Amino acid sequence: MQDTLTIALSKGRIFKETLPLLHHAGIEPVDDPETSRKLILDTNRDDVKLVIIRATDVPTYVQYGAADIGVAGKDVLMEHGGEGLYEPLDLGIARCRMMVAGPVGAPPVAGRLRIATKYVNCARRYFAEQGQQVEIIKLYGSMELAPLVGLADRIVDLVDTGNTLKANGLEPLEHMADISSRLIINKAAMKMKTDQVKAFTDRIAEAVAAREEAA
Ligand code: ATP
Ligand code: PRP
Repeated sequence: MQDTLTIALSKGRIFKETLPLLHHAGIEPVDDPETSRKLILDTNRDDVKLVIIRATDVPTYVQYGAADIGVAGKDVLMEHGGEGLYEPLDLGIARCRMMVAGPVGAPPVAGRLRIATKYVNCARRYFAEQGQQVEIIKLYGSMELAPLVGLADRIVDLVDTGNTLKANGLEPLEHMADISSRLIINKAAMKMKTDQVKAFTDRIAEAVAAREEAA
């Protein structure tokens, strides 16, 4: 009998954009996480189940082997550090950029910049590389609000269309990284479930290649 392969996904854009890739690998979830309250979803395959968790928790589940495989944004992986994980495949989904942004036309700030972000580690690394002294304020969301109410001078956040920045009188200032979602694999699972993991990864890689060819 085959071991069960457990795949960690977050609800929302990652789940939606991963579905066609799973389909190509012959995997169809039985429930829809947007309507079901279940956190473990069965699939049409007895040997594959999905666990539905917060995007920021996906690397942790995979690192500790609670899931064998996961799909996580590069932003989340950069912030987590990536210990205990292989990252073999760029899925090319949920693409955006990590950027520094601030109020439109704001003058340079004298002294230490205050930066609001949920990406504390990424921001700390980035500004250290720039040789810039900053104070980092940890937030869990709605970063765009922080400069509007005087909590911070700048934010570090994700930008796709730029609409959220624009709607809040902010502009992108510095590009930190291009972001897309990656397949991540637990290092022990790679050893213990090699054939299953490899078969799954190969099918997903084919799906990514086919999609890119069609684009
Ligand atoms: P959490 O629930 O853990 O706080 P989240 O709310 O950021 O996470 P999502 O909004 O579903 O979760 O984002 C998941 C991933 O999608 C992010 O980690 C990032 O890689 C990518 N992403 C986020 N915002 C955008 C966007 N506007 N356009 C494209 N991709 C995005
Ligand atoms: C993300 C991100 C920005 C927004 C950028 O938020 O945190 O706020 O997208 O996208 P845009 O440049 O196309 O406007 P999301 O929509 O995921 O909301 P959430 O962080 O509250 O989940």
